[in-house]
Amino acid sequence: MCKECGMDYPKAYGKCPSCGAWNSFVEQKIHKQTAEKISHGYINTAKDTTPRLISEVEISEEQRFDTTSTELNKVLGGGLVAGSLVLIGGEPGIGKSTMVLQMALNMKGRKILYVSGEESVSQIKLRAERIGDALSECYLLSENSLEEIFAQIRNTQPDVVIVDSIQTIASESADSSPGSITQVRECASALLKFAKQTNIPVIIIGHITKEGSIAGPKLLEHIVDTVLQFEGDRHYIYRVLRANKNRFGSTDEIALFEMQQNGLREVNNPSELLISQGNEALSGVSIAAMVEGIRPFLIEVQSLVSTAAYGTPQRSATGFDIRRMNMLLAVLEKRAGFRLAQKDVFLNIAGGLRVSDTAIDLAVAMAVLSSNLDISISRDIAMCGEVGLSGEIRPVNRIENRISEAEKLGFSSIIIPYNNNTKLANKHFKINIMPVRKIEDAFRVLFKD
Ligand code: TYD
Ligand code: MG
Repeated sequence: MCKECGMDYPKAYGKCPSCGAWNSFVEQKIHKQTAEKISHGYINTAKDTTPRLISEVEISEEQRFDTTSTELNKVLGGGLVAGSLVLIGGEPGIGKSTMVLQMALNMKGRKILYVSGEESVSQIKLRAERIGDALSECYLLSENSLEEIFAQIRNTQPDVVIVDSIQTIASESADSSPGSITQVRECASALLKFAKQTNIPVIIIGHITKEGSIAGPKLLEHIVDTVLQFEGDRHYIYRVLRANKNRFGSTDEIALFEMQQNGLREVNNPSELLISQGNEALSGVSIAAMVEGIRPFLIEVQSLVSTAAYGTPQRSATGFDIRRMNMLLAVLEKRAGFRLAQKDVFLNIAGGLRVSDTAIDLAVAMAVLSSNLDISISRDIAMCGEVGLSGEIRPVNRIENRISEAEKLGFSSIIIPYNNNTKLANKHFKINIMPVRKIEDAFRVLFKD
């Protein structure tokens, strides 16, 4: 079986014929025991197997549980769907256990079973003390055996089951160690069957390692209904939760959290936190009107450009793709004639957020120029626009949301791509809109006037 994609073959290959990964084959012993047997008959296997005409299939409004976190509900598409299997993935220490425990404690009037294969019950209790009082009926179980977990589920009859983490539990039916692909697949499919047939939602946590050497969420992603990815820089307090896959909602929503001493706090108004307060304008700082998912917010881009002290100039970027930064520097050099080849360039996106929206390009380019010239950009101006290879400013999506957000936060002007402006003709904004066609136009607007 290939460790990367989970495909199985009767012989091992050097390169996986399915996903192309090298040296990814491991031997797997196949057991006849199936998911039904593991759960000791808890799962009812009777099912309707005759095909049915689509117009005759009845649908019932899916039942959703309120997770008591508006942000989490939003990412799930409106709450936790009964009978769904949700995977929450993320690097170690990012706050996955904290988030699910917080949810478990707050779901008032519900019975929750929190199974941890990593921590003892008293350790979980210690963590819960930091978060606050339990409003729900929350049961803790420290257990690694899947069979035992099912036995305890039967005894407890919970409304929601949480398993932290899938890599630490194992089924007796497979003789490999916990965390191996066989075990992960076996346990996840047993939990899926369980969720579907009892209508009890199950949340599982999955670790991601840098090399992905442990049976990673890739394999799990195919099995589960919803994949939520928890990301952020561990050294900063902001965390982003996004849906990578959701059978019950859109994948456009993101949720923002802040890690505090007493658990995670929802960030409802990100812009105010991501722009440093204070009126003093500093060189090398620009403000980008961003959209993550469907949510607009403004974020500060900081750059430092200095003459390279030794030979090769250094380039480093935090929260932004370094290759994209190099591309922008090349565009500035070649198309707009700014001399940056002998300069060290450092770039930082506020709050430790990782930005994937290309509309931030313009703000990155302007922050670099501002630092290079040592001229500050007015703190009243926000900007957005994708920079093309010939230095043209290309249109961006959801332009109206970006403009409204900047307007709401009291910015006096916003620089936008010219092509977006032509489509805004009949809209009226109080904010001053400055359309630009090329990187030089933006430069002139900011530094020449
Ligand atoms: P954790 O939920 O254990 O991460 P994961 O399950 O993803 O591995 O969270 C780890 C970090 O969160 C840990 O370094 C401590 C910090 N933390 C807080 O800052 N405040 C809190 O209230 C809690 C419970 C944890
Ligand atoms: Mg954990």
